Amino acid sequence: MLILGIETSCDDTAAALVEDGRKVLSNVLASQDDFHREYGGVVPEIASRRHAEVIGAVVEQALAKAGCSYDALDGVAVTCGPGLAGSLVVGVAAAQAIAFARDLPAYAVNHLHGHLFANYLENPDAPAQDPPREPFVCLIVSGGHTDLIHVESPARHRVIGRTRDDAAGEAYDKVARLLGLGFPGGPVLDELARGGDATAFDFPRSLLTDDSLDFSFSGLKTAVRYHLDAYPEHAAARAADVAASFQAAVVDVLVEKTLRAARLHDTKTIALAGGVSANSALRVRVRDAGRERGLRVLIPPIAYCTDNAAMIAAAAYYRGDAARVPAAKLTADPNFAW
Ligand code: KG4
Ligand code: ZN
Repeated sequence: MLILGIETSCDDTAAALVEDGRKVLSNVLASQDDFHREYGGVVPEIASRRHAEVIGAVVEQALAKAGCSYDALDGVAVTCGPGLAGSLVVGVAAAQAIAFARDLPAYAVNHLHGHLFANYLENPDAPAQDPPREPFVCLIVSGGHTDLIHVESPARHRVIGRTRDDAAGEAYDKVARLLGLGFPGGPVLDELARGGDATAFDFPRSLLTDDSLDFSFSGLKTAVRYHLDAYPEHAAARAADVAASFQAAVVDVLVEKTLRAARLHDTKTIALAGGVSANSALRVRVRDAGRERGLRVLIPPIAYCTDNAAMIAAAAYYRGDAARVPAAKLTADPNFAW
């Protein structure tokens, strides 16, 4: 079953062709970073205009790279939310047009389901690796979400923890801004932290209560701000140490809560998903923690962690009828809930 996935929920225009929910035949992405950089963040109006300009070419390129035509498709999947309304409508309109013109089944995909199902895609670094076996716990860490999910089957999953304030990616982006690192902040801060001392400053780790699976990152972000207010010279002279110490606090909490979730829900597998799971320190720490405790650890390759369309096609395949909608009913839903 060959599904065309389309993703335009934020600032990346993406299209991909995926066979049977696992085999990625093409995965095309047009980044808008250069258009938003001078504003220090994503400007919604610029994002939707740019999506509208390139969506046709991105879909055509995904088909060309996979060496197939519209005739080969068995379905079209698109991110319907959550995301920026003006961005979502561009992808939804494109998917709807293709579904109508080709009389194809349409799938309305939740962006967070997409991140989760990135773990089901064949991993190019380990093609022989088996798909995930449920039940497992998945930590979804992105710019807008920090959620722990208990996955019972591809069609049944439940949010067992979430952030009460900022998402981890949001904290990365805000601290990157405090350090004057520009946009997008997460990857730059990750790189900078590699040269820093993670024990230089003791930033707070908010674990809430002993059995809580919820997160809180706003106190950490504020602690970094107070630190830089007190020692303004550290923004330049100790930037790498601040970055590394901040990152250690985020990663400690993410790892601790993920292990806690696996323990409380008695699962033998833990998985990562979302843009922040591209973080080098988080990937190493989760792998090490899993090895120590005899847990299977799933971490998608970086291109499938950050926003992409292959994960959207995978989610449609695995969710099947749960995601299927009449093409006329495909609608952007900026607040699409889990
Ligand atoms: O999943 P994603 O691409 O888009 C959303 O759905 O939000 O995640 C984007 C977030 C941004 O906050 C970005 O700074 C963060 O992921 N991010 C990282 C890294 N790469 C992306 N954060 C830390 N380290 C990274 N290497
Ligand atoms: Zn995302």
